[in-house]
Amino acid sequence: MRNLIVVLGLLLAPAWADEPYKEYTPAEHFEPHVSGDSQLTGTYRYWKDPTKLDLRLAGHPDDSWKLNWKHLDYPFNKEMHAGHLALDRGLVLFNKLNRAGTFKNCLVMYRLNGQYETTLRGLRTHFPAYRTDLRRVAGLEEVIEHCAALESETLQNGSYDNSAVSIYIASQSLGMPIKIDVSSGPLREAWKRGERLFHQKVGRNNMSCASCHVGRVGQSLRATVVTSPYGDAAHYPVYRDRFGITSLHIRFAQCSLDLGFNALKPGSPAYTDVEVFLTALTNGYPVSVPSERP
Ligand code: HEC
Repeated sequence: MRNLIVVLGLLLAPAWADEPYKEYTPAEHFEPHVSGDSQLTGTYRYWKDPTKLDLRLAGHPDDSWKLNWKHLDYPFNKEMHAGHLALDRGLVLFNKLNRAGTFKNCLVMYRLNGQYETTLRGLRTHFPAYRTDLRRVAGLEEVIEHCAALESETLQNGSYDNSAVSIYIASQSLGMPIKIDVSSGPLREAWKRGERLFHQKVGRNNMSCASCHVGRVGQSLRATVVTSPYGDAAHYPVYRDRFGITSLHIRFAQCSLDLGFNALKPGSPAYTDVEVFLTALTNGYPVSVPSERP
């Protein structure tokens, strides 16, 4: 009998070792389109038309989160903030990297299932994308780092200069709706993994991203009120008053630290999967870069 238990234990042990115990926040139904927020927080009606925002809500501390702070430049000055300075820097760097024209070709070459495009316009709306050269789904900042390396330049994902180039490229798609297709293929797989990661409880607080971004929307945490996860991706990289130029993966890292677990490197596969998930929740919402958030 004892031998049998030992044999059974040995047989089952590798299976347990493969699947460490994990807990998940129960998932809501998410739509890969920004209008899905009508079912989640119901705030979509307040911010779906960026040209008709009721700015009286912004002036009220209990209501401001309903505007989702998407297209607003606090205090509503779109003309002058540090995001514009980053854009200028991004343009200079882009021109330097693109002296031979190959940097731009690298960025746009694999856009839309390998279909060749020659313009930066609209490029931001299709990221993250599957890159045949990298053989994986990658965000725009990761591709910028990759294409810069081919020009023998280092533009580390998450750095100011990488985000500056990303802001310049995104600004070429200003006002165009985010459009990534997560219905099939590698992006579908990434969306599913990203959704799962978003709900996985981690860290010393045993919380998931969803614990705050679904369960506590509208509540004040660390002096900011948590907003809906829908629509976020459209205004990144963003200038934040407290943190400076912030890429989406840097924001993930900041929230990871709040969760009580070590932040991952920008461009890490787990963050890219979460980026795919959150970008799909932004489908249909216009790119708003450069932008500023408090
Ligand atoms: C302890 C609560 C908490 C947890 C857990 C948390 N966040 Fe956040 N997050 C916040 C707060 C507060 C803000 C700032 C207010 C806002 O924009 O929602 C924020 C902001 C964000 C933003 C920027 C929103 C915008 O429009 O600029 C993103 C993106 C984000 N979080 C992603 C994540 C991801 C991914 C995870 C899981 C790795 C996560 N968060 C976990 C509290 C949390």
